[in-house]
Order: sequence, then structure tokens, then C-alpha cells
Amino acid sequence: MADSKTFTLTNDATGESFKFPVIEGSYGPDVIDMRKLYESTNMFSYDPSFTSTASCPSAITFIDGEKGQLMHRGYSIEDLAGKSSFIEVAYLLLYGDLPSEKQLKEFSHNITYHTMVHEQLQFFFRGFRRDAHPMAIMCGVVGALSAFYHDSLDIHDLAQREISAHRLIAKLPTLAAMTYKYSIGQPFVYPRNDLSYAENFLHMTFAVPAEPYKVNPVVAKAMDRIFILHADHEQNASTSTVRQSGSSMANPFACIAAGIASLWGASHGGANQEVLEMLAEIGHKDRIPEFLARAKDKNDPFRLMGFGHRVYKNHDPRAAVLKESCHEVLEDLGIEDPLLELAMELEKIALQDEYFVSRKLFPNVDFYSGIILKAIGFPTSMFTVLFALARTTGWVSQWKEMVEDPGMRICRPRQLYTGAEPRPYVALDKRGASTERKASKSAA
Ligand code: CMC
Repeated sequence: MADSKTFTLTNDATGESFKFPVIEGSYGPDVIDMRKLYESTNMFSYDPSFTSTASCPSAITFIDGEKGQLMHRGYSIEDLAGKSSFIEVAYLLLYGDLPSEKQLKEFSHNITYHTMVHEQLQFFFRGFRRDAHPMAIMCGVVGALSAFYHDSLDIHDLAQREISAHRLIAKLPTLAAMTYKYSIGQPFVYPRNDLSYAENFLHMTFAVPAEPYKVNPVVAKAMDRIFILHADHEQNASTSTVRQSGSSMANPFACIAAGIASLWGASHGGANQEVLEMLAEIGHKDRIPEFLARAKDKNDPFRLMGFGHRVYKNHDPRAAVLKESCHEVLEDLGIEDPLLELAMELEKIALQDEYFVSRKLFPNVDFYSGIILKAIGFPTSMFTVLFALARTTGWVSQWKEMVEDPGMRICRPRQLYTGAEPRPYVALDKRGASTERKASKSAA
């Protein structure tokens, strides 16, 4: 990162000018180093939902939203989704380069041999209602891992960081499958070390002790691809949550639980569940115009789920790959899903609609993933869990990168204060009804 360029800001009120260093990235936009802004100007920068703020340096993932480009460590998502495997991508994200044959074997072995969870953990599940949302269970059980693996909580110890990262990547499929089994009242199925990451997950999810289960290779390939496509996505809401949590030196299990909580929201990972619910509600292509009108109506909170992205303003490259997988899986399984027809029709109509075109709203990764997951046999409530499972790899890589950065400091944003100015304390017997009303208004 070279920093010979500068950027000058002028305060129009006083005529004062302030120079800030410009830091060049290895690829993509440069950044203005604003760290001394407050010290020099007595003002904060204001960017409430971070549309123009680079919160950290990172060498893991690059997105160019205008071009619809996504790369991990320099490799395009199309190449990775088409030629690699999830376990290889996990290695790439964590360690920076594609593994050699020996490294891949060793890494796969490490992940495989950490897939079991402490037997005591099953009792956490039994404390939940059977109809609990699987993401609620995941927030709890992943956070609870920190109570079981005391030997890997010291974030200052490289070996402990490493083993926590491996444990998280390895155990998330086990916990996700247990969540599903619990919700349908079937016995938990233990992991199998002779299966690949995706195969093992499908086995733990769909096998029952009463009979042998054979993993369908087309489904396993699609599952692996879905995991690759969801593995990391730069500084999105949940990843920023993981980093923010970790910046206080919280342990990685707690940080990933925080990421899961953030991912659950409908604007983020929760959207894949909502896409299917929306398609089911639309029901028939004749009703598409009605729903498009609702999506455009500013007085209606309804949004077209699976459409739009904060960063992608051309197309979401993950959606294109998934659309292809979607057809492959449905064809192999011999499923004719009217929801897929409906989704394609909706996509076609929306992409010709001025509202969506002018706002650069395109189908995102969640638009097609739900249809594949439904075809594989997952209930909609599990969709976001699968996203969390895959994204754990990105979260731990980003967390590790941050902790290993010698410049790491606790994240502590400031604010634009909009509250009351200093005022004297009013004794209880002097407060009138007007104070009461004001207080309840500001609480709302
Ligand atoms: N349906 C209808 N209008 C939309 C939609 C949508 N899905 N998305 C954005 N808009 C409109 C929005 O009303 C606004 O219009 P106007 O300029 O007239 O006020 C304009 O487009 C810009 O929207 P925004 O809310 O300022 O955009 P944002 O960057 O804050 O939000 C988003 C991005 C993904 C939260 C949003 O597009 C959305 O809510 N999409 C639906 C939920 C979804 O599919 N989420 C998954 C995102 S991809 C996976 C992930 O990140 O987890």
C-alpha cells in the first residue's frame, strides 16, 4: 500500500484546508485516510450505513459492484464455483493461496477430524421448543461452543486461533444438521469421516439410523457450489459484526454467533427464506403485476425479495451461477417446480420495468438459492442456516486476518448527536405531564 498521494478538504466556513493521505489498494478504489480527521478538524465523518467507508484493510475478497465482479484472493467466483471445491476455497480464504495437494489433504483431514461436537451439546438442543426457528437455535449453540473448547479461546496464540478456525468450519455442518433433526423430531446423525464436506452435511441432515442413505452426487455438487458461492462477501453486515465483536478481543465462537444473529435479518441472509415465501404468496404469474406495484409503492413495506444489492449495481455474479445450478438440480431430480417458472417470469418482467432498471435492482444470490434448496429437501426455515454454515468460513478468515493485523484496535464509531442539549435535572415533583409525553415519544 503506497501512500504518497494526498486529498485536501476545505472548510468553506473558515477557508481552512486539511490534507489527508490517500492509501492505494492493490486493486480497485483508493481510500482517503481519515483517521486524523477529528483531531485536525474537530468534526467526524458521517456515513451512517457505511456506503462510502472502508472499515478495514483486507486481502481476502474483492467486489466491483458496477462490473458485477467478485474475487477471492484474486480468483474469480466463476472459476472457483466451476473448478474448485468448498474445502479448497475455505483453505484459500483462510491462508491466502490455493493449497498444494499435500496441503489440501492435511487441511481436509483437520476439518474432517473436528466435525464431532461435544456430546453434552445435544442437551442445549433439548432446551429449545421443537418449533424454534433454526437460526435462533444456531445463535445459541454456536455461542455455546466457547463453553466447550476452553483450550482454543486465547486469541493471542496462533495455534489456538488456528484450531478454533478449524473447529468452527468443521462443526457448523454438524450443528446445522442437528438443528434440522431436532425440528423434525428425528435422532441426531453423527458425522462420517469418509465423506466430503457437502456429502457429510447431506448425510447428517437426511440419513436416518433405520436404513442406509446414499448421497446423490448431483445434489452434493450443487450443495458444494452453494457453499462456495456463500463463503465470503467482503465487509457485509454480518462480517462487519464479526469483526466489530472480535475487535474487543472476544473469542471467535462468540464472534461467529454474533455474525449469525446479523445474518438472520431479512435484508441479509434471511432473504432466501423470504424469496420462497414471496413466490408462494404470488402463486401465479398473473399476480406478478400486483406484487410489482406493491414493491414500487413507497407506502407499502413490501419489497421484492431476492432483488437489489448494496454493492452490485449490474448483476450479482453468484445469482448467474446459481440459476445454472438450479436447472441442473431440478432436471436431475426430475422436479418440475412451478415456483422456478414463476421466479423466471418475475425476473423477466422486473428486469424490463423502469423502476427496477433505473434503480439497478437485479436478482441477487438469494433469488435462486431457495429453489435449489427446496428441491434438495430443505424446509425454508433452514435456508439461512445453510448460508450461515458456508459464511462461517469467510467470517473466521476475516476474524483471523483482523486479529493478526498488528494495527488492530477496538472498533469504536462515533455519532451525530441529535439529543437534548445540556439541561438541569428536574426534581420528580416538578415534572409536569408535558415531560411525560416527550419521554414516551422519544422512546417510541
Ligand atoms: N424491492 C423494491 N424496491 C427496492 C428493492 C426491492 N427488493 N431494493 C431496493 N429498492 C429500492 C428502494 O426502495 C430505493 O428506492 P428509492 O430510491 O426510490 O427510495 C432504492 O431501490 C435503493 O434501495 P436502498 O434500500 O437504499 O438500497 P440498500 O443498498 O440500502 O439495500 C438491500 C440493499 C439488499 C437491503 C435491498 O435491495 C433489499 O431490501 N432487497 C431485498 C432483500 C434481499 O434480497 N436481500 C438479500 C441481499 S443479497 C444477500 C445478502 O447480502 O445477504
